[in-house]
Amino acid sequence: MFEFPIAIGLSPNTQTDDIWQALNALFMPWSWKEGSSVEKAEKWFKDYFGVSDAVSFNSGRSALYALLKIFNIGRGDEVILQAFTCVAVPDPVIWTGAKPIFVDIEETLNIDPGLLEKHINKKTKAIIVQHTFGIPAKIEMIAKIAQKYNLILIEDCAHCIGATYKDKKIGTFGDAAFFSFGRDKVISSVFGGMAIINGKFNPSTSLRTRMENGKLREFQQKLNYPSYFWILQQLLHPIAFAIILPLYNIYLGKLILFLLQKLNLLSFPLFPEEKLGNKPDIFPLKYPNALAQLVLVQLEKLDKYNLFRRETAAYYFRQLKEFPNIQLPARGKGAIYLRFNILIKNAEELLKIARKKGLVLGNWYKNIIDPRGVLYGKIGYKKGSCPSAEKTAGLSVNLPTYPRLTMIDLKRIVDLIPVRHS
Ligand SMILES: Cc1ncc(COP(=O)(O)O)c(C=O)c1O
Repeated sequence: MFEFPIAIGLSPNTQTDDIWQALNALFMPWSWKEGSSVEKAEKWFKDYFGVSDAVSFNSGRSALYALLKIFNIGRGDEVILQAFTCVAVPDPVIWTGAKPIFVDIEETLNIDPGLLEKHINKKTKAIIVQHTFGIPAKIEMIAKIAQKYNLILIEDCAHCIGATYKDKKIGTFGDAAFFSFGRDKVISSVFGGMAIINGKFNPSTSLRTRMENGKLREFQQKLNYPSYFWILQQLLHPIAFAIILPLYNIYLGKLILFLLQKLNLLSFPLFPEEKLGNKPDIFPLKYPNALAQLVLVQLEKLDKYNLFRRETAAYYFRQLKEFPNIQLPARGKGAIYLRFNILIKNAEELLKIARKKGLVLGNWYKNIIDPRGVLYGKIGYKKGSCPSAEKTAGLSVNLPTYPRLTMIDLKRIVDLIPVRHS
């Protein structure tokens, strides 16, 4: 009766120690904004990636926006990025006044390096490389092209902290990288993000990027903290889910979730105006101490989480290899599989069947620029311009790999996949 639901989007990283940390913080509002945990989280990233500074923000979007601003990207500039993404990636580009240019994807579901040069012109300033679902993009090829055209290369590591490509950490291949601590990312503090600058990327720009490190810190220091109410919303998230999850399968959990959202006591991951390319006031702001406290608890579990995700992916690979009607994700030694994305013809139906049986699988990115309701005209995406991304969007079903899953859960998920013969 009090079984946890299999639900990819319901606070998937939250465990008992995270709930205790949130409760602890809840009763110490005097340390919600400023405190030593922000510095500790920044130091963790600085040491882990071997960079001279890591600068925190209240979301990955804010971190990306800050990077674009300090690299002087603005009106009249173009920034290349992939289709099959979340609107939270092109939006910060639009907020600077620059234009996002969408490029199609290859089999790893990341930007196709073979198509890049065709999109580069005098206005091109930067390339954002997303490592979708924690599977590394063809980053060496992309880095070479960025160097050839003297473009700024920013890695979008929202789906991967701890992934590697040829044994080198993802996040260290370009001029800069950013990370997300969103509610369903690798590690989570409900909202939060980090940016790093790598002065070693391009010899001709290394001096420039080293100087930009100071500019990034300056940019952050001029920002305000989020309001106490906003911080409260985020702290309530893991606590609320401690109550919601065990009651979810008997509907009471769903009702509590609905009421808390209606009462505005829980935040939504995206604001309606973002679907139109507009910037909510909440971005960019400083990363508050209370959320840094949450992220430090999560960072301690990063290796364990990534190992679990890799082992879960290995299980899916083994179990699903005989299914000719499914295309499995790309295999990568250094991938961390935030979600295990399969391509299946009747994706929508599979999601529906799963929901009926009480399993909520994922649908990133059902829309080429997710979520539903994004106005492509406002974001600058032309329908039909990225056929692989459009096809992938229609076929994608994400199987969960989050650390709470049990062996029984995994068997239930695999048993759901309907046909073994096409
Ligand atoms: C690929 C990708 N990049 C960037 C972001 C933005 O991160 P955040 O939600 O922390 O702003 C997201 C998620 O929203 C994402 O899926």
